[in-house]
Amino acid sequence: MKQLGILLSGRGSNFAAIAENISNGRIPARISIVISNRPEALGIEHARKLGLNSLVIPSKGKVREQHDAEVIAALREANVDLICLAGYMRLLSPAFIRAFPHRILNIHPSLLPAFPGLDAQKQAFEHGVKVSGCTVHFVDEFLDHGSIIVQRSVPVLDSDDDHTLAARILEQEHIAYTEAINLVLSGDFEISDRRVLRKSTLAGNRAL
Ligand code: GRF
Repeated sequence: MKQLGILLSGRGSNFAAIAENISNGRIPARISIVISNRPEALGIEHARKLGLNSLVIPSKGKVREQHDAEVIAALREANVDLICLAGYMRLLSPAFIRAFPHRILNIHPSLLPAFPGLDAQKQAFEHGVKVSGCTVHFVDEFLDHGSIIVQRSVPVLDSDDDHTLAARILEQEHIAYTEAINLVLSGDFEISDRRVLRKSTLAGNRAL
C-alpha cells in the first residue's frame, strides 16, 4: 500500500477530501503522516480526530532550511511515497525538492500559469476572467510553477463575487487532487519537457 504524507497550514478541506476518498476506496493508499507548521491549524485537529499520525512542526522563528530539515526527517521516518501540499503556506527549499524528486504535489486555486501566489481566486475575479479553476502540479523550487498534472475549469458567473467563485473552485479542487494522486501513484505517466503525459494513452496511439 502506497503511503501519503500531507503538509498543511490551515483549514485542511483538501486533506479531508483526500482522507475521505481513501476511506471510500477511491484512492488506493494510506496516510502515514499529517504535518502542520501551525499549531492552531484546523486541519491538524481533524487529522487527530481521524486517529492519523499527526505532527506539528512549528516554522515560526526558524530559518527555512532548519524547518525543512525537520519536516524531511519526519516524512522519511513515516516512509512516505508521495507528499501532498494541502494549503501548506510555505515555499520549499531546494534541498526539500531534491529529497523527493517528482514526489511532491501542490494544489492551487487558479488555472496556472495565471494568478500564482496568494488570493488567486480574488486575483482572477478582479481581473475579470470568464473561466477560472484549479491546478494540481508537481512542486519545483519556484512558486506555483512545476509541471501540471490535472486542471479543472470553473465558469465565472455574472452573479459571482470572489467568495462564491472560491467556493465552486474548492469543490473542483477536492475532485482534482484525487485524480492527480491516482495518476501519480499508478505510475502511468511520463514527463516530456513540462508536459505530464499518460503512458497508456501514448502506447495506444503508437499501436494505431
Ligand atoms: C486551497 O484553495 C488550495 O488550493 C490552496 O490553499 C487552499 C487550502 O484550502 N493551496 P484547504 O486548507 O485545503 O481547505
